[in-house]
Amino acid sequence: MPTVVRYTPVAIFLHWIMAALVVWVGVLGLLHDSWPKGTQGFWINVHAVSGLLLFALLLARIGWRAGHAPPPLPAEAGELSRRLSGPVHLALYLLMLVIPMIGVVTFIWHGRVFDFGLFRVDFGIKSNRAIFHPTEDVHGYLAYALFALVGLHAAAALWHQYLRHDGVLERMRPGRGR
Ligand code: HEM
Ligand code: HEM
Repeated sequence: MPTVVRYTPVAIFLHWIMAALVVWVGVLGLLHDSWPKGTQGFWINVHAVSGLLLFALLLARIGWRAGHAPPPLPAEAGELSRRLSGPVHLALYLLMLVIPMIGVVTFIWHGRVFDFGLFRVDFGIKSNRAIFHPTEDVHGYLAYALFALVGLHAAAALWHQYLRHDGVLERMRPGRGR
């Protein structure tokens, strides 16, 4: 394995905690129509509050990245990776930014109230199908695009690790590094 320069521990921590959150929020999203009527509101609230946490972590991550540029790719990484990784990472960031924003509009204009456990936030907006219906569709389509891109991204990471052996995955691996 070539010697690699790793991302900072903060960037690595945020990457993996947010990857887990995307899976959690995404699975809850896909299950929205499967809950019994009595518990559906509860789970949609859990989805929304977890999504807001993801959004807050994303802002922290963007702030951290602004002051800590990613380490240069290992010399062994190919030309295709150099060209593709930037746009794919940017698209992942943009989707994680825009999906929650559209989710908030869908949530509020469905007349729902955020329940954070200790307190509730009610915008007092009446349910308006003309708004929440199209935004719910767009929110869902963008979430599917995020899932597809995450699949491509994870496959690329495994390709680097097991076929190219170029040390790219090592840069983002939790722990102290080898
Ligand atoms: C990256 C974060 C998120 C992902 C991946 C995600 C994913 C999804 C998915 C896959 C669906 C189902 C769409 C469909 O059935 O076509 C959904 C629905 C929904 N999401 Fe999200 N979501 C995220 C963040 C949020 C946030 C932050 C909120 C609100 C604050 C939110 C509110 C909603 C609402 C209200 C629905 C529709 C629920 C219903 O009434 O059926 N989402 N989301
Ligand atoms: C929901 C899941 C995931 C999301 C949203 C995500 C998002 C991202 C983003 C935005 C970056 C760019 C970091 C930066 O330069 O600022 C990144 C880097 C990286 N991710 Fe993920 N990721 C996810 C899952 C995974 C998985 C499952 C793997 C491994 C199998 C992985 C491996 C990597 C690696 C190795 C890098 C560093 C790439 C490089 O050195 O340029 N990611 N990820």
